[in-house]
Amino acid sequence: MVEQFQAPKGTHDVLPVESYRWQQLVASFAQVMGGAGYGLVQSPMFEDIGVFQRLGEGTEVVRKEMYDFYDKGERHLALRPEGTASVVRAFNQHRPTVPWKVWYVTPCFRYEEPQAGRFRQHHQVGAEALGSADPDLDAELIATQHDFYQRLGLKSVSLRLNSMGSANDRRAYTEHLAAWLGQRLDDLDPQDHPNASEHPLRVLDSKRERSRRIIAQAPHITDFLSDEARAHFERVQAGLDALGVAYELDTRLVRGLDYYTHSTWEFASAALSGAQNAVGGGGRYDGLAESLGGKPASGVGFGAGIERILLAADAEQALDTDGGAVEVFVVDVCGGSAGRDITFELRRNGISADRAFDGRSMKAQMKVADRSGARVALLVGTDELAADTVTLRYLRSGEPQVTLLRSGLVEQLAPLLARA
Ligand code: HAM
Repeated sequence: MVEQFQAPKGTHDVLPVESYRWQQLVASFAQVMGGAGYGLVQSPMFEDIGVFQRLGEGTEVVRKEMYDFYDKGERHLALRPEGTASVVRAFNQHRPTVPWKVWYVTPCFRYEEPQAGRFRQHHQVGAEALGSADPDLDAELIATQHDFYQRLGLKSVSLRLNSMGSANDRRAYTEHLAAWLGQRLDDLDPQDHPNASEHPLRVLDSKRERSRRIIAQAPHITDFLSDEARAHFERVQAGLDALGVAYELDTRLVRGLDYYTHSTWEFASAALSGAQNAVGGGGRYDGLAESLGGKPASGVGFGAGIERILLAADAEQALDTDGGAVEVFVVDVCGGSAGRDITFELRRNGISADRAFDGRSMKAQMKVADRSGARVALLVGTDELAADTVTLRYLRSGEPQVTLLRSGLVEQLAPLLARA
C-alpha cells in the first residue's frame, strides 16, 4: 500500500471555512496598520543563520529550536523563527527613510514540543518601527495592537508592561541577578541551575514551583533603570493612559527573546489556558540593527500569534465563519451550459456565485446549494430553458420563489439579493 502522508508533527492545515476567519483577521490587521501609516514588508522565509543567531544565545528559540539546514551551495541557512530579525536585516540593507514603519504576516518555525496553542509552524501578524527612539512610538504600537484585538471583538485580552532599561541598565541588572541567584542555588530547582549563571533572565520565566518561590523575592529590573530609561518608560505609560489603554506593570516580564531594551509588553487572553495564553508580545530593541552589522538604529515592534488569537476568538465567539459564502448558487439540470454562462455573468458583474458540476440531479444540486451558505439559488430546468427564464429560490428566508427573465438578470437580481 502507498503511504498516505499527514502534515508534519506540530503543523496544521487551515481549510475553508476556518480559513475565512484567518482572512478576516489578516484583513483587519492590514487595515489597522495601514491606517496608522505602516506598509507591508515581505522578506524571505529563510536567512543566513547568523541573522537569527544575533537574536541572542540566551534565546531558547535560537539555541534549541531553530530549523537550520545547508543548501546545495553549502550555505548555512535557517527558517525564520520570528519576524523581527528579517525586518531589521532588510532595514540595514535598504536604508529606508526613518521612521520606517512596516507590518507583516508570516509563518514562524520553532522546533518546540507541540501542545494546545503551541506549534512548530505558527503564524504571526506583526509590526515594527525602525530608526526612532521616540517613546511615543512604543505607545503607538502598543495602542494599535490593543485596538486590533478590540476590532476583532476580543474582550478578555489584558496587557502587562515592563521596562528592561537601556542596554547598560539591562546588563547591570543581569549581572546582579546572576550573583543573587548564584547565592541561592540550593533553593532553585536543579533544572534551572544552568540558566542561573548563563542566562539568568530566563530563570524569571521558570514555571517550576520551587524556583517560582525564590524568584518572587528576586531583585527588580525597575530598581536598575537610569534616569533616561525611567523617563522613556514614564512617557510610554502617559501615552497609554491618554489613549485609554489599560495595563498592569509587571517587573518580571522579561520575555523570551534577548534583544529587548526599554519597553517590553505582552497581551494575554483569559479565554486561553495557562502557559499558552499570550496572544502577542513586543518591545523595543535598540541594539539589534547594530548587532546585525548596520548603523546604530532604534527599533520597536510586536508580533501576535494568529492561531492563538483564533483560539481566543473561538472561546469568545468573536469572529464568524459565515461571511465566506457566495451570494448566489446556480443549479442547472439541463446540461450545465446555462449554469456556466449565468455564473460568469453574475461574477463579472460583481455578484459572487458558484454552481454545481458533474451534471447531478436537482436534489443533489440543491443539497450543495444549501450547504454552500448562498442566500439564493437560481434554477434552470427544462421549463426555464424553454421560456428563457430562471427561477429564484430563497435559501434562508422562507419567501416564495420568483421567476426572472434570463435577459437583464443582473438588474433584476440586485434588489432581490438586498432583501434575501
Ligand atoms: P514572541 O513572543 O516569541 O515574540 O511571539 C509572538 C507571539 O507569537 C506570541 O505572543 C504568541 O501569540 C505567538 N507564538 C509564539 N510561539 C508560538 C508557537 N510555538 N505556537 C503558536 N503561537 C506562538 C516574537 O516573535 C517577536 N518577534 C515579537 C516582536 C516583534 N518583538 C519586537 N517586534
